[in-house]
Amino acid sequence: MSKKKNLFKIKKPKNLNTIFGLPAKSYTDEDFWKKECNTVLSEGWLFVGFVHELKKIGDVSPLFIANKPILLVKNNNNEIKAFHNVCSHRCLKLVDEKKNVGKIIRCPYHSWSYDLDGNLKAAPHIGGTNQHQPKGFNFLDHGLKPIRIYIWHDWIFINYNGKAKKFKDYAKPLIKKFNDIDLTKLKYATTLDFGKINTNWKFLIENFIEPYHVQFVHKTTTNQPLKDHYTVVDGICYGSGVDVKEEDTKNSSALSVTSRYLSLFPNFIIGTYFPNQVGVYLNIPISPGVTSQKRIIYTTDGKEMGEEEVKMVKNIWWNVHKEDHEMCERLQEGRSSPASEEGGLLSPVWEKGVQTFQKLIINATMKSKKIIKRKKNV
Ligand SMILES: [Fe+2]
Repeated sequence: MSKKKNLFKIKKPKNLNTIFGLPAKSYTDEDFWKKECNTVLSEGWLFVGFVHELKKIGDVSPLFIANKPILLVKNNNNEIKAFHNVCSHRCLKLVDEKKNVGKIIRCPYHSWSYDLDGNLKAAPHIGGTNQHQPKGFNFLDHGLKPIRIYIWHDWIFINYNGKAKKFKDYAKPLIKKFNDIDLTKLKYATTLDFGKINTNWKFLIENFIEPYHVQFVHKTTTNQPLKDHYTVVDGICYGSGVDVKEEDTKNSSALSVTSRYLSLFPNFIIGTYFPNQVGVYLNIPISPGVTSQKRIIYTTDGKEMGEEEVKMVKNIWWNVHKEDHEMCERLQEGRSSPASEEGGLLSPVWEKGVQTFQKLIINATMKSKKIIKRKKNV
């Protein structure tokens, strides 16, 4: 019998200048997606939201990321907590929209209620009419299931399996690149919410970290020559940068400023733009072929952005991103062709970051062969 081909492994390079990318199934296959959700997106620190979006005590924000419903909650101490968004009673998805719940999160099904720290406070009539707390039923055992969380400036990270390194050790390669910017001074300027994009989440990350396409895809929306770009690869942090000789901060239609584009594995993306702009992207993997994306723009000097400037900045970025999304959707469509089964090719120079990212994906997913583990004798 012939040896079965491993459809998820990167093809070995023929020589230094022929580097293959991830096989097509890594972007389309349901089993690979499930594996990815339980490894790549569960083992490290996953970026899930923005602190400024949960302003008041009692604000809750449900999210479906990496195939799991989660819930972010602002508690009475003004801290943000993360829970699995599932009622302990019948595992109904507890909260289905962003809102303020006051002091109690109540399940609409049988009214089981939790405080803002996830403690179960009420399970009405569970033991029969007016039997709200029968013997042997301990409320302390049935609170919401917490998820490990870390807040870095305005950015919320979770670690599903609870086993990742401490955030500051995990993110060290990225954090040390911000010695020149005081991130505590970041001021929110505006949001660009792109909603759902018909592409695998990895294409959006890969597109962001390689500068190769900029000269072609963003020909009219940017003026940043390829020769001025450089690539960055440092462990689980990779990306690129461009040093523009003459900054143009007045042009309202084309971006032409010194910039850095960095990503932290798996899904955090941050860009810095001369003289005072930072952009952070939230990419939410929803299914193999669907990802949602949002970009928040901040100023770094503590200054408010005026209305006109916000309009200009939004306009530039909206157009740049739409150009990227079109390419990412076509990358996804290309993956249904048998010609892309073994993956495309990568530039050994400009797509070094992409290569690193893809190796991290393969390393994480190849560790575990088990896709679904059943609980025995329940
Ligand atoms: Fe782009």
